[in-house]
Amino acid sequence: MILFDVYPLNDITIVKGEGSYVWDDKGQKYLDLYGGHAVISIGHTHPHYVKRLEDQLHKVGFYSNSIKIPLQVELAEKLGKVSGKEDYQLFLCNSGAEANENALKLASFYNGRKKIIAFKKAFHGRTSLAVSATDNPSIIAPVNETTNVIFLPLNDEAALEQCFKENEISSVIIEGIQGVGGIHVASDSFLRKIRSLCDEYNAVYIADSVQCGYGRSGMFYSHDHSGVQADIYTMAKGMGNGFPVAGISISPKIHSKHFMLGTTFGGNHLACAAALAVLEIIEQDELIKNAAEVGDYLVTELKKLPRIKEVRGKGLMIGIDLPEDLKDVKKNLLFKHRIFTGESKPYVIRLLPALNITKTEADIFLQAIKTELS
Ligand SMILES: Cc1ncc(COP(=O)(O)O)c(C=O)c1O
Repeated sequence: MILFDVYPLNDITIVKGEGSYVWDDKGQKYLDLYGGHAVISIGHTHPHYVKRLEDQLHKVGFYSNSIKIPLQVELAEKLGKVSGKEDYQLFLCNSGAEANENALKLASFYNGRKKIIAFKKAFHGRTSLAVSATDNPSIIAPVNETTNVIFLPLNDEAALEQCFKENEISSVIIEGIQGVGGIHVASDSFLRKIRSLCDEYNAVYIADSVQCGYGRSGMFYSHDHSGVQADIYTMAKGMGNGFPVAGISISPKIHSKHFMLGTTFGGNHLACAAALAVLEIIEQDELIKNAAEVGDYLVTELKKLPRIKEVRGKGLMIGIDLPEDLKDVKKNLLFKHRIFTGESKPYVIRLLPALNITKTEADIFLQAIKTELS
């Protein structure tokens, strides 16, 4: 059997990781400012994380959701505390797409409606409803085409208001900071407008925090910067630092019914151990504060550099928008300077490092990009 070829690959094989560094099979060391697509939140192979997973594996790795799993309760309490949403309810699943799928479904169960507002350049995942709410026709299969999703321009309050007047909206799904779309920040006033319209029309505000959440923006959810509370927060990526675990944090106003949502693997013992280890480290090492500080430093320094079209983002979710003549910078960062970064079309470099990246590591990157821009 061969692999189904769905990704263009860099000719690199990573065999080891530690903190913000990874090594390939030839012993070459790389600075990781990509975190395997925003997944590595507490750094590679953090000793506390490794130990907690190892200890759990020796006890029990998995049993089904038909029995009590106290680790899930512990995780809900910890997440409620660290995210400042102690009165919310947690449903656990396995991936970002699945989190969004469940959130959209739950919203529809809640108000009995079908129409969803999503935004231009949004990415919400590849499963049926999540991909329908993703603004990329090339990944929407005919079977996933639906008239239930309405795409509006980001930060256009008048269009939003008009859409609510003309349709029975079930939910609005929005990334606080668009990731795949190229690091576009939803404005504070736009998020507040979503909140007030959802209140007025009894629609559900879904904060897709799969990429911009879990402390990355310098606050637990990027929506927190605007002082709004969403009805449902979806999360994945940084939640397990590489272990597949995801969840939705649900407002107390939404009530559960048995069997309305479900999962085989979601919230298993190992997944909970991974997610708890991540939250413990985020809390103990004050990683959200570090994300805000190192992120501010990077943005300030990047804004001083020549030839960059725009620097966007918050905390450690940063987009460096380059002109076409600098399209090789990302490739050069990887192959000349040995620094992994992310990208968005056409020429945006995305920085998504671990939340415990140091200022010294940030300086290594700044020096490298300065060389590329000079
Ligand atoms: C904002 C956002 N939502 C959802 C997803 C989908 O997550 P997953 O790939 O875990 O299904 C992603 C993945 O990049 C994302 O960035």
